[in-house]
Amino acid sequence: MDAPQFKEFAKEMVDYVANYLENIRDRRVLPTVEPGYLRPLIPDSAPQKADKWEDVLADVEKVIMPGVTHWHSPRFHAYFPTANSYPAIVADILSGAIACIGFSWIASPACTELEVVMLDWLGKMLDLPKEFLACSGGTGGGVIQGTASEATLVALLGAKARALAKFRKEFPDLSDFEIVSKLVGYTSAQSHSSVERAGLLGGIKLRSLPVDEDYKLRGETLENAIKEDLEAGLIPFYAVATLGTTSSCAFDRLDEIGPVCNEHKVWLHVDAAYAGSAFICPEFRYLLKGIERADSFNFNPHKWMLVNFDCSTMWLKDPAWLVDAFNVDPLYLKHDQQGAAPDYRHWQIPLGRRFRALKIWFVLRLYGIENLQAFIRKHISIAHYFEELVRGDDRFEITAEVIMGLVCFRLKGENVLSEQLLKRINARGVVHMVPSKINDIYFLRLAVCSRFTEQGDIDITWKEVRENADLLLAEKKNHIN
Ligand SMILES: Cc1ncc(COP(=O)(O)O)c(C=O)c1O
Repeated sequence: MDAPQFKEFAKEMVDYVANYLENIRDRRVLPTVEPGYLRPLIPDSAPQKADKWEDVLADVEKVIMPGVTHWHSPRFHAYFPTANSYPAIVADILSGAIACIGFSWIASPACTELEVVMLDWLGKMLDLPKEFLACSGGTGGGVIQGTASEATLVALLGAKARALAKFRKEFPDLSDFEIVSKLVGYTSAQSHSSVERAGLLGGIKLRSLPVDEDYKLRGETLENAIKEDLEAGLIPFYAVATLGTTSSCAFDRLDEIGPVCNEHKVWLHVDAAYAGSAFICPEFRYLLKGIERADSFNFNPHKWMLVNFDCSTMWLKDPAWLVDAFNVDPLYLKHDQQGAAPDYRHWQIPLGRRFRALKIWFVLRLYGIENLQAFIRKHISIAHYFEELVRGDDRFEITAEVIMGLVCFRLKGENVLSEQLLKRINARGVVHMVPSKINDIYFLRLAVCSRFTEQGDIDITWKEVRENADLLLAEKKNHIN
Protein backbone atom coordinates (compact mmCIF):
# COMPACT_ATOMS: atom_id res chain seq x y z
CA MET A 1 0.00 0.00 0.00
CA ASP A 2 1.42 3.37 -0.94
CA ALA A 3 0.74 6.69 0.77
CA PRO A 4 -2.06 7.87 -1.58
CA GLN A 5 -3.87 4.56 -1.11
CA PHE A 6 -3.30 4.76 2.65
CA LYS A 7 -4.86 8.21 2.74
CA GLU A 8 -7.92 7.01 0.84
CA PHE A 9 -8.29 3.84 2.90
CA ALA A 10 -7.75 5.62 6.22
CA LYS A 11 -10.24 8.38 5.35
CA GLU A 12 -12.85 5.78 4.44
CA MET A 13 -12.11 3.95 7.67
CA VAL A 14 -12.47 7.11 9.72
CA ASP A 15 -15.91 7.64 8.13
CA TYR A 16 -16.80 4.04 8.85
CA VAL A 17 -15.68 4.32 12.49
CA ALA A 18 -17.57 7.55 13.12
CA ASN A 19 -20.72 6.13 11.51
CA TYR A 20 -20.36 2.90 13.48
CA LEU A 21 -20.10 4.71 16.78
CA GLU A 22 -22.72 7.37 16.13
CA ASN A 23 -25.27 4.74 15.05
CA ILE A 24 -24.29 2.02 17.51
CA ARG A 25 -27.58 2.46 19.36
CA ASP A 26 -29.35 0.76 16.40
CA ARG A 27 -27.35 -2.46 16.69
CA ARG A 28 -28.28 -5.44 18.82
CA VAL A 29 -25.84 -5.43 21.76
CA LEU A 30 -25.10 -9.16 21.73
CA PRO A 31 -24.46 -11.02 18.46
CA THR A 32 -26.56 -14.06 17.52
CA VAL A 33 -23.76 -16.07 15.87
CA GLU A 34 -22.80 -19.59 16.93
CA PRO A 35 -19.21 -20.68 17.66
CA GLY A 36 -17.36 -21.32 14.40
CA TYR A 37 -19.47 -18.77 12.48
CA LEU A 38 -16.47 -16.96 11.02
CA ARG A 39 -14.34 -19.63 9.31
CA PRO A 40 -16.79 -20.32 6.46
CA LEU A 41 -17.01 -16.59 5.72
CA ILE A 42 -13.36 -16.19 4.70
CA PRO A 43 -10.95 -18.24 2.55
CA ASP A 44 -9.02 -21.20 4.00
CA SER A 45 -5.66 -19.49 3.57
CA ALA A 46 -4.11 -16.07 3.09
CA PRO A 47 -4.36 -14.54 -0.41
CA GLN A 48 -1.36 -15.10 -2.68
CA LYS A 49 -1.91 -11.75 -4.36
CA ALA A 50 -2.93 -8.63 -2.51
CA ASP A 51 -6.62 -7.92 -2.03
CA LYS A 52 -8.08 -4.45 -2.65
CA TRP A 53 -8.63 -2.32 0.42
CA GLU A 54 -12.19 -1.65 -0.71
CA ASP A 55 -12.88 -5.40 -0.45
CA VAL A 56 -11.31 -5.61 2.99
CA LEU A 57 -13.42 -2.71 4.22
CA ALA A 58 -16.57 -4.27 2.78
CA ASP A 59 -15.78 -7.50 4.62
CA VAL A 60 -15.68 -5.72 7.97
CA GLU A 61 -19.47 -5.37 7.88
CA LYS A 62 -20.01 -8.86 6.43
CA VAL A 63 -17.52 -10.91 8.44
CA ILE A 64 -16.61 -9.03 11.59
CA MET A 65 -19.65 -7.04 12.66
CA PRO A 66 -22.02 -10.03 12.91
CA GLY A 67 -19.71 -11.42 15.58
CA VAL A 68 -19.09 -8.22 17.54
CA THR A 69 -20.44 -7.64 21.04
CA HIS A 70 -20.99 -3.92 20.98
CA TRP A 71 -19.25 -2.75 24.14
CA HIS A 72 -20.00 0.86 23.31
CA SER A 73 -23.69 0.37 22.79
CA PRO A 74 -25.56 2.59 25.25
CA ARG A 75 -27.27 -0.55 26.52
CA PHE A 76 -24.12 -2.58 27.15
CA HIS A 77 -24.12 -2.88 30.94
CA ALA A 78 -21.82 -5.86 31.52
CA TYR A 79 -18.53 -6.04 33.46
CA PHE A 80 -17.16 -2.52 33.83
CA PRO A 81 -16.78 0.08 31.07
CA THR A 82 -13.92 0.05 28.62
CA ALA A 83 -13.06 3.49 27.33
CA ASN A 84 -13.55 4.79 23.81
CA SER A 85 -13.10 8.32 22.52
CA TYR A 86 -12.19 10.01 19.27
CA PRO A 87 -9.07 11.74 20.66
CA ALA A 88 -7.73 8.42 21.93
CA ILE A 89 -8.45 6.68 18.62
CA VAL A 90 -6.57 9.41 16.74
CA ALA A 91 -3.67 9.16 19.20
CA ASP A 92 -3.50 5.44 18.51
CA ILE A 93 -3.16 6.18 14.78
CA LEU A 94 -0.17 8.39 15.54
CA SER A 95 1.28 5.82 17.93
CA GLY A 96 0.92 3.24 15.16
CA ALA A 97 2.80 5.52 12.77
CA ILE A 98 5.66 6.34 15.10
CA ALA A 99 5.64 2.66 16.10
CA CYS A 100 8.55 2.94 18.49
CA ILE A 101 9.31 0.49 21.27
CA GLY A 102 9.98 2.76 24.23
CA PHE A 103 11.80 0.37 26.52
CA SER A 104 14.54 2.88 27.36
CA TRP A 105 14.84 6.65 27.21
CA ILE A 106 17.09 6.59 24.14
CA ALA A 107 14.77 4.14 22.36
CA SER A 108 12.48 7.15 21.91
CA PRO A 109 12.92 9.99 24.39
CA ALA A 110 9.48 11.52 23.70
CA CYS A 111 7.79 8.23 24.55
CA THR A 112 9.38 8.10 28.00
CA GLU A 113 9.25 11.81 28.75
CA LEU A 114 5.61 12.30 27.79
CA GLU A 115 4.73 9.30 29.98
CA VAL A 116 6.53 10.78 32.98
CA VAL A 117 4.72 14.10 32.57
CA MET A 118 1.31 12.56 31.83
CA LEU A 119 1.53 10.48 34.99
CA ASP A 120 2.24 13.69 36.88
CA TRP A 121 -0.73 15.44 35.22
CA LEU A 122 -3.02 12.56 36.08
CA GLY A 123 -1.62 12.21 39.59
CA LYS A 124 -2.35 15.89 40.19
CA MET A 125 -5.86 15.47 38.80
CA LEU A 126 -6.49 12.80 41.44
CA ASP A 127 -4.68 14.84 44.08
CA LEU A 128 -2.34 11.94 44.81
CA PRO A 129 0.24 12.62 47.52
CA LYS A 130 3.32 14.30 46.06
CA GLU A 131 5.47 11.30 47.04
CA PHE A 132 3.96 9.50 44.03
CA LEU A 133 4.81 12.23 41.53
CA ALA A 134 8.04 12.52 39.57
CA CYS A 135 7.69 16.32 39.53
CA SER A 136 8.08 16.42 43.32
CA GLY A 137 11.76 15.62 42.89
CA GLY A 138 11.63 12.65 45.26
CA THR A 139 11.97 8.97 44.43
CA GLY A 140 8.35 8.46 43.28
CA GLY A 141 6.85 8.36 39.82
CA GLY A 142 4.33 6.79 37.52
CA VAL A 143 4.28 4.31 34.65
CA ILE A 144 1.71 3.01 32.18
CA GLN A 145 1.14 -0.72 32.50
CA GLY A 146 -1.02 -2.68 30.07
CA THR A 147 -3.55 -3.79 32.68
CA ALA A 148 -4.38 -3.61 36.38
CA SER A 149 -3.46 -7.30 36.59
CA GLU A 150 0.10 -6.46 35.56
CA ALA A 151 0.23 -3.60 38.06
CA THR A 152 -0.79 -5.91 40.92
CA LEU A 153 1.82 -8.46 39.92
CA VAL A 154 4.55 -5.86 39.43
CA ALA A 155 3.78 -4.38 42.88
CA LEU A 156 3.90 -7.85 44.40
CA LEU A 157 7.31 -8.47 42.84
CA GLY A 158 8.56 -5.12 44.17
CA ALA A 159 7.25 -6.02 47.63
CA LYS A 160 8.94 -9.42 47.39
CA ALA A 161 12.25 -7.79 46.47
CA ARG A 162 11.91 -5.38 49.42
CA ALA A 163 11.07 -8.17 51.87
CA LEU A 164 13.95 -10.32 50.60
CA ALA A 165 16.44 -7.46 51.02
CA LYS A 166 15.24 -6.80 54.59
CA PHE A 167 15.19 -10.41 55.75
CA ARG A 168 18.50 -11.32 54.12
CA LYS A 169 20.00 -8.70 56.42
CA GLU A 170 18.03 -9.73 59.51
CA PHE A 171 18.43 -13.48 59.02
CA PRO A 172 21.68 -14.09 57.14
CA ASP A 173 21.39 -17.83 57.80
CA LEU A 174 18.15 -18.15 55.88
CA SER A 175 18.34 -18.93 52.16
CA ASP A 176 16.20 -16.88 49.71
CA PHE A 177 14.10 -19.98 49.21
CA GLU A 178 13.42 -20.21 52.95
CA ILE A 179 12.50 -16.52 53.16
CA VAL A 180 10.15 -16.72 50.16
CA SER A 181 8.44 -19.80 51.59
CA LYS A 182 7.55 -17.71 54.69
CA LEU A 183 6.20 -14.70 52.79
CA VAL A 184 2.49 -14.10 53.08
CA GLY A 185 0.31 -11.47 51.39
CA TYR A 186 -3.26 -10.33 52.00
CA THR A 187 -6.26 -9.28 50.05
CA SER A 188 -10.01 -9.32 50.52
CA ALA A 189 -12.39 -12.05 49.47
CA GLN A 190 -13.93 -9.41 47.17
CA SER A 191 -10.77 -8.43 45.30
CA HIS A 192 -10.47 -9.16 41.59
CA SER A 193 -9.34 -12.62 40.50
CA SER A 194 -6.18 -11.02 39.08
CA VAL A 195 -4.96 -10.50 42.67
CA GLU A 196 -5.14 -14.21 43.45
CA ARG A 197 -3.44 -14.81 40.11
CA ALA A 198 -0.62 -12.41 41.01
CA GLY A 199 0.00 -14.55 44.10
CA LEU A 200 0.17 -17.70 41.98
CA LEU A 201 2.44 -16.09 39.38
CA GLY A 202 4.65 -14.56 42.06
CA GLY A 203 4.93 -17.90 43.87
CA ILE A 204 3.78 -16.64 47.27
CA LYS A 205 0.91 -17.36 49.67
CA LEU A 206 -1.87 -14.82 49.45
CA ARG A 207 -4.63 -14.91 52.05
CA SER A 208 -8.13 -13.92 51.10
CA LEU A 209 -9.64 -12.12 54.10
CA PRO A 210 -13.33 -11.78 54.96
CA VAL A 211 -15.12 -8.47 54.41
CA ASP A 212 -17.67 -6.63 56.54
CA GLU A 213 -21.41 -6.45 55.82
CA ASP A 214 -20.76 -3.73 53.22
CA TYR A 215 -18.17 -5.95 51.46
CA LYS A 216 -15.24 -3.80 52.61
CA LEU A 217 -11.96 -5.09 54.04
CA ARG A 218 -11.42 -3.56 57.50
CA GLY A 219 -8.17 -2.71 59.26
CA GLU A 220 -8.91 -4.92 62.22
CA THR A 221 -9.37 -8.01 60.02
CA LEU A 222 -6.00 -7.37 58.41
CA GLU A 223 -4.34 -6.68 61.76
CA ASN A 224 -5.62 -9.97 63.21
CA ALA A 225 -4.47 -11.95 60.17
CA ILE A 226 -0.99 -10.38 60.31
CA LYS A 227 -0.64 -11.13 64.03
CA GLU A 228 -1.75 -14.72 63.49
CA ASP A 229 0.84 -15.16 60.75
CA LEU A 230 3.63 -13.53 62.74
CA GLU A 231 2.91 -15.92 65.59
CA ALA A 232 3.11 -18.80 63.10
CA GLY A 233 6.60 -17.60 62.05
CA LEU A 234 5.51 -16.25 58.67
CA ILE A 235 6.58 -12.96 57.07
CA PRO A 236 3.69 -10.59 56.16
CA PHE A 237 4.95 -8.51 53.21
CA TYR A 238 2.19 -7.39 50.82
CA ALA A 239 -1.46 -6.32 50.91
CA VAL A 240 -3.86 -5.29 48.18
CA ALA A 241 -6.75 -2.98 49.00
CA THR A 242 -9.45 -2.50 46.39
CA LEU A 243 -11.24 0.76 45.79
CA GLY A 244 -14.27 -0.27 43.75
CA THR A 245 -14.54 -4.05 43.82
CA THR A 246 -15.62 -5.83 40.67
CA SER A 247 -18.67 -7.57 42.11
CA SER A 248 -20.34 -4.67 43.88
CA CYS A 249 -18.03 -1.62 43.72
CA ALA A 250 -17.25 -1.70 47.45
CA PHE A 251 -14.40 0.38 48.85
CA ASP A 252 -11.97 -1.23 51.27
CA ARG A 253 -11.23 0.98 54.29
CA LEU A 254 -7.90 2.37 53.16
CA ASP A 255 -7.83 4.72 56.16
CA GLU A 256 -7.78 1.68 58.48
CA ILE A 257 -5.68 -0.66 56.34
CA GLY A 258 -2.88 1.85 55.68
CA PRO A 259 -1.74 2.29 59.29
CA VAL A 260 -1.74 -1.50 59.82
CA CYS A 261 0.43 -2.02 56.74
CA ASN A 262 2.82 0.77 57.74
CA GLU A 263 3.17 -0.56 61.27
CA HIS A 264 4.09 -4.04 60.04
CA LYS A 265 6.15 -2.82 57.05
CA VAL A 266 3.77 -4.50 54.64
CA TRP A 267 3.76 -3.08 51.08
CA LEU A 268 0.29 -1.66 50.41
CA HIS A 269 -0.90 -1.74 46.82
CA VAL A 270 -4.19 -0.04 45.97
CA ASP A 271 -6.22 -1.41 43.08
CA ALA A 272 -8.72 1.21 41.90
CA ALA A 273 -8.97 -0.23 38.38
CA TYR A 274 -12.49 1.02 37.67
CA ALA A 275 -13.36 3.57 40.34
CA GLY A 276 -10.03 5.42 40.29
CA SER A 277 -11.19 7.65 37.41
CA ALA A 278 -13.89 9.11 39.69
CA PHE A 279 -11.21 10.61 41.93
CA ILE A 280 -10.76 13.37 39.36
CA CYS A 281 -13.98 14.66 40.99
CA PRO A 282 -13.15 16.11 44.43
CA GLU A 283 -16.45 14.91 45.93
CA PHE A 284 -15.33 11.26 45.63
CA ARG A 285 -11.87 11.68 47.11
CA TYR A 286 -13.11 10.85 50.61
CA LEU A 287 -12.85 7.24 49.39
CA LEU A 288 -9.11 7.76 48.81
CA LYS A 289 -8.55 8.74 52.44
CA GLY A 290 -5.39 6.99 53.63
CA ILE A 291 -3.74 6.85 50.17
CA GLU A 292 -0.65 8.56 51.66
CA ARG A 293 0.04 5.26 53.46
CA ALA A 294 0.17 3.21 50.23
CA ASP A 295 3.34 2.13 48.42
CA SER A 296 1.69 1.80 45.02
CA PHE A 297 -1.58 2.90 43.43
CA ASN A 298 -3.18 1.89 40.17
CA PHE A 299 -6.25 2.73 38.11
CA ASN A 300 -7.32 2.16 34.53
CA PRO A 301 -8.00 5.27 32.43
CA HIS A 302 -8.83 2.60 29.84
CA LYS A 303 -11.90 1.74 31.87
CA TRP A 304 -13.60 4.98 32.77
CA MET A 305 -11.54 7.95 31.61
CA LEU A 306 -12.07 7.84 27.85
CA VAL A 307 -8.56 6.54 27.02
CA ASN A 308 -8.88 3.47 24.81
CA PHE A 309 -7.43 0.17 26.01
CA ASP A 310 -4.67 -0.40 26.98
CA CYS A 311 -3.71 2.21 29.54
CA SER A 312 -3.38 1.23 33.18
CA THR A 313 -1.63 3.92 35.18
CA MET A 314 0.45 3.00 38.21
CA TRP A 315 2.32 5.16 40.70
CA LEU A 316 5.04 4.03 43.09
CA LYS A 317 6.65 5.86 45.96
CA ASP A 318 9.88 3.99 45.47
CA PRO A 319 10.19 2.36 42.06
CA ALA A 320 13.78 1.41 42.89
CA TRP A 321 12.44 -1.84 44.33
CA LEU A 322 11.17 -2.80 40.88
CA VAL A 323 14.02 -1.30 38.93
CA ASP A 324 16.53 -3.23 41.01
CA ALA A 325 14.46 -6.42 41.07
CA PHE A 326 13.90 -6.46 37.30
CA ASN A 327 17.23 -5.04 36.24
CA VAL A 328 18.83 -7.24 33.61
CA ASP A 329 21.13 -5.00 31.65
CA PRO A 330 22.54 -6.49 28.45
CA LEU A 331 24.98 -4.33 26.52
CA TYR A 332 22.63 -3.84 23.56
CA LEU A 333 20.08 -2.09 25.82
CA LYS A 334 22.55 0.20 27.62
CA HIS A 335 22.84 3.89 26.74
CA ASP A 336 24.86 6.93 27.81
CA GLN A 337 22.01 8.75 29.57
CA GLN A 338 21.13 5.86 31.85
CA GLY A 339 19.91 7.11 35.24
CA ALA A 340 18.93 10.58 33.97
CA ALA A 341 15.39 9.47 33.04
CA PRO A 342 13.44 6.27 33.68
CA ASP A 343 14.12 3.27 31.49
CA TYR A 344 10.61 1.93 31.73
CA ARG A 345 11.60 -1.62 30.80
CA HIS A 346 12.67 -2.03 34.43
CA TRP A 347 9.21 -1.03 35.68
CA GLN A 348 7.25 -3.72 33.87
CA ILE A 349 7.24 -7.37 32.80
CA PRO A 350 7.65 -7.19 29.00
CA LEU A 351 10.52 -5.41 27.32
CA GLY A 352 8.44 -3.81 24.57
CA ARG A 353 6.00 -0.99 25.16
CA ARG A 354 3.89 1.20 22.88
CA PHE A 355 3.66 4.99 22.92
CA ARG A 356 0.54 4.99 25.09
CA ALA A 357 1.09 8.36 26.75
CA LEU A 358 -0.10 9.99 23.50
CA LYS A 359 -3.62 8.74 24.25
CA ILE A 360 -3.62 10.36 27.66
CA TRP A 361 -2.21 13.61 26.28
CA PHE A 362 -4.79 13.85 23.49
CA VAL A 363 -7.70 12.96 25.81
CA LEU A 364 -6.70 15.36 28.58
CA ARG A 365 -6.14 18.22 26.16
CA LEU A 366 -9.15 17.66 23.95
CA TYR A 367 -11.66 17.07 26.77
CA GLY A 368 -10.14 19.15 29.55
CA ILE A 369 -10.60 18.15 33.17
CA GLU A 370 -14.04 19.79 33.33
CA ASN A 371 -15.55 17.62 30.62
CA LEU A 372 -14.00 14.46 32.04
CA GLN A 373 -15.50 15.27 35.43
CA ALA A 374 -18.87 15.91 33.78
CA PHE A 375 -18.65 12.53 32.05
CA ILE A 376 -18.00 10.67 35.34
CA ARG A 377 -20.76 12.57 37.14
CA LYS A 378 -23.21 11.84 34.35
CA HIS A 379 -22.56 8.09 34.55
CA ILE A 380 -23.02 8.15 38.30
CA SER A 381 -26.25 10.11 38.07
CA ILE A 382 -27.55 7.67 35.43
CA ALA A 383 -26.75 4.79 37.83
CA HIS A 384 -28.74 6.53 40.59
CA TYR A 385 -31.62 7.04 38.15
CA PHE A 386 -31.69 3.28 37.48
CA GLU A 387 -31.39 2.62 41.21
CA GLU A 388 -34.52 4.70 41.82
CA LEU A 389 -36.44 2.79 39.13
CA VAL A 390 -35.49 -0.49 40.80
CA ARG A 391 -36.38 0.79 44.27
CA GLY A 392 -39.78 1.86 42.93
CA ASP A 393 -40.73 -1.74 42.11
CA ASP A 394 -41.17 -3.79 45.25
CA ARG A 395 -40.49 -7.09 43.49
CA PHE A 396 -36.83 -6.04 43.33
CA GLU A 397 -34.12 -5.18 45.82
CA ILE A 398 -30.80 -3.31 45.61
CA THR A 399 -28.00 -5.46 47.04
CA ALA A 400 -25.15 -2.97 47.48
CA GLU A 401 -24.80 0.73 48.04
CA VAL A 402 -24.66 2.61 44.73
CA ILE A 403 -21.62 4.87 44.86
CA MET A 404 -20.27 4.89 41.30
CA GLY A 405 -21.81 3.76 37.99
CA LEU A 406 -22.74 0.25 39.12
CA VAL A 407 -26.13 -0.91 40.36
CA CYS A 408 -26.45 -4.39 41.90
CA PHE A 409 -30.03 -5.63 42.05
CA ARG A 410 -32.12 -8.79 42.09
CA LEU A 411 -35.62 -10.13 42.22
CA LYS A 412 -36.52 -10.76 45.84
CA GLY A 413 -36.61 -14.46 46.70
CA GLU A 414 -34.66 -17.48 45.50
CA ASN A 415 -31.54 -17.01 43.36
CA VAL A 416 -33.07 -19.00 40.55
CA LEU A 417 -35.54 -16.19 39.82
CA SER A 418 -32.78 -13.68 39.16
CA GLU A 419 -30.78 -16.28 37.24
CA GLN A 420 -33.69 -16.92 34.90
CA LEU A 421 -34.41 -13.22 34.60
CA LEU A 422 -30.88 -12.49 33.42
CA LYS A 423 -30.95 -15.38 30.96
CA ARG A 424 -34.09 -13.98 29.38
CA ILE A 425 -32.76 -10.42 29.26
CA ASN A 426 -29.51 -11.43 27.58
CA ALA A 427 -31.33 -13.75 25.14
CA ARG A 428 -33.34 -10.82 23.77
CA GLY A 429 -30.08 -8.99 23.02
CA VAL A 430 -31.42 -5.46 23.56
CA VAL A 431 -29.45 -5.15 26.79
CA HIS A 432 -26.42 -7.01 28.09
CA MET A 433 -25.56 -7.56 31.76
CA VAL A 434 -23.55 -10.07 33.75
CA PRO A 435 -24.30 -11.40 37.23
CA SER A 436 -22.30 -11.81 40.40
CA LYS A 437 -22.75 -13.59 43.69
CA ILE A 438 -21.74 -12.61 47.20
CA ASN A 439 -22.44 -14.82 50.23
CA ASP A 440 -24.51 -17.09 47.98
CA ILE A 441 -26.80 -14.23 46.98
CA TYR A 442 -27.01 -14.00 43.19
CA PHE A 443 -27.60 -10.56 41.67
CA LEU A 444 -27.51 -8.70 38.38
CA ARG A 445 -25.01 -5.94 37.80
CA LEU A 446 -25.95 -2.92 35.72
CA ALA A 447 -22.80 -0.98 34.90
CA VAL A 448 -23.19 2.30 33.05
CA CYS A 449 -20.55 1.72 30.40
CA SER A 450 -20.94 3.63 27.16
CA ARG A 451 -20.25 7.31 26.71
CA PHE A 452 -23.43 7.31 24.58
CA THR A 453 -25.71 6.13 27.42
CA GLU A 454 -28.52 8.57 28.17
CA GLN A 455 -31.44 8.42 30.58
CA GLY A 456 -33.66 7.28 27.68
CA ASP A 457 -31.47 4.20 27.21
CA ILE A 458 -31.88 3.38 30.87
CA ASP A 459 -35.66 3.63 30.44
CA ILE A 460 -35.38 1.02 27.66
CA THR A 461 -33.14 -1.16 29.85
CA TRP A 462 -35.56 -0.92 32.76
CA LYS A 463 -38.47 -1.78 30.42
CA GLU A 464 -36.55 -4.91 29.34
CA VAL A 465 -35.93 -5.87 32.96
CA ARG A 466 -39.54 -5.25 33.99
CA GLU A 467 -41.14 -6.98 31.00
CA ASN A 468 -38.96 -10.05 31.44
CA ALA A 469 -39.74 -10.09 35.15
CA ASP A 470 -43.49 -9.82 34.40
CA LEU A 471 -43.30 -12.81 32.04
CA LEU A 472 -41.12 -14.86 34.34
CA LEU A 473 -43.21 -14.24 37.44
CA ALA A 474 -46.46 -14.88 35.54
CA GLU A 475 -45.10 -18.22 34.30
CA LYS A 476 -44.04 -19.17 37.81
CA LYS A 477 -47.48 -18.27 39.13
CA ASN A 478 -49.24 -20.30 36.42
CA HIS A 479 -46.94 -23.21 37.10
CA ILE A 480 -47.83 -23.16 40.82
CA ASN A 481 -51.56 -22.85 40.07
C1 LIG B 1 -11.09 -4.05 40.73
C2 LIG B 1 -10.46 -4.64 39.51
N1 LIG B 1 -9.16 -4.94 39.52
C3 LIG B 1 -8.55 -5.48 38.45
C4 LIG B 1 -9.24 -5.71 37.28
C5 LIG B 1 -8.52 -6.30 36.12
O1 LIG B 1 -8.33 -5.29 35.17
P1 LIG B 1 -7.35 -5.49 33.93
O2 LIG B 1 -8.16 -6.10 32.85
O3 LIG B 1 -6.87 -4.10 33.61
O4 LIG B 1 -6.25 -6.38 34.37
C6 LIG B 1 -10.60 -5.41 37.21
C7 LIG B 1 -11.37 -5.66 35.98
O5 LIG B 1 -12.51 -5.34 35.85
C8 LIG B 1 -11.23 -4.85 38.35
O6 LIG B 1 -12.53 -4.56 38.36
